[in-house]
Formats: sequence, structure tokens, C-alpha cells
Amino acid sequence: MVEQPRIIQLPKISDPRGNLSVIEELKDIPFKIERTYWIYDVPGGEVRGGHAYKENQELIVALSGSFDVVLDNGKEKKVFSLNRSYIGLYVPKGLWREMENFSTNSLALVLSSTKYDAEDYIRDYQEFLNFIAQ
Ligand code: TYD
Repeated sequence: MVEQPRIIQLPKISDPRGNLSVIEELKDIPFKIERTYWIYDVPGGEVRGGHAYKENQELIVALSGSFDVVLDNGKEKKVFSLNRSYIGLYVPKGLWREMENFSTNSLALVLSSTKYDAEDYIRDYQEFLNFIAQ
């Protein structure tokens, strides 16, 4: 069965000295973390992504600012607006994804279930449609 994307409310320890949130693998998110990367200094109007992964799963958090993640399963698109540092978007494998509408100084944290592997990417939309139809 194909997994669905979903918003994950991360633990938030509220404190007058400043709040704290945390992610533990296989507890707060459904995969083991093999890699972490972040996207920043995105010029206004730029769109990131434009690909799908065959195997990689991710959790995306807007650590600062805001942006939209558009997920497409080949039949319908869903837009998730992220703008809180205690909210994660779980992105299962096999979805076409784009990230857009980055606010100034936004910072996107991405936790990944696999090491970087260029072979895991599908960068052609028609190829993506063929892949999910298999
Ligand atoms: P890409 O995943 O296409 O970025 P986005 O989906 O945010 O638009 O990656 C952009 C470039 O960075 C590409 O040349 C591959 C490289 N890259 C790595 O070397 N390691 C990584 O972990 C990631 C995510 C990307």
C-alpha cells in the first residue's frame, strides 16, 4: 500500500526562556535518519524540488520562515504550507514534490531515510507517471 503524506506534530517543550522541539528516529518519525540537509538563501520566486524519490522518505520542517510543499501522487496535488518549527511534513517515497513560496530568510530542514543517491531520483515527470503505474 502506498503511504500517505502527513503532518506530524513534533514535541514542543514550551519555556519562557525559549521553546525546544525534538525529533527521535522511529519514535517521532517513522524511519531511521541516514542524512540531514537544509535549504536556505532561496531567492524570491524560486522553486526547489521537481522530482520524486523511488525509495527515500523525508521529514521536512520549516525551522524558520515559511514555504509550501506541493506533493503530487500522479492523480492529485496537495499543498502543505509549513511555517512552524514544531510541525513536520512526512513525505513517503514515490511522490512528485516541489517546494515554493519561500519567505525571506526561510530555513527548510530535511531529514532523509537514505544516503544521497542520484539513482534514487526521478527527475522526469512522465518517467514518474510510468514508475507509479508499475
Ligand atoms: P536536489 O535534491 O535536486 O535539490 P532540491 O530538491 O531541493 O531542489 O539537489 C540539488 C543538488 O544538490 C543536486 O546536484 C544534488 C545535490 N545534493 C547532494 O549532493 N546531496 C544531498 O543530500 C542532496 C539533497 C542534494
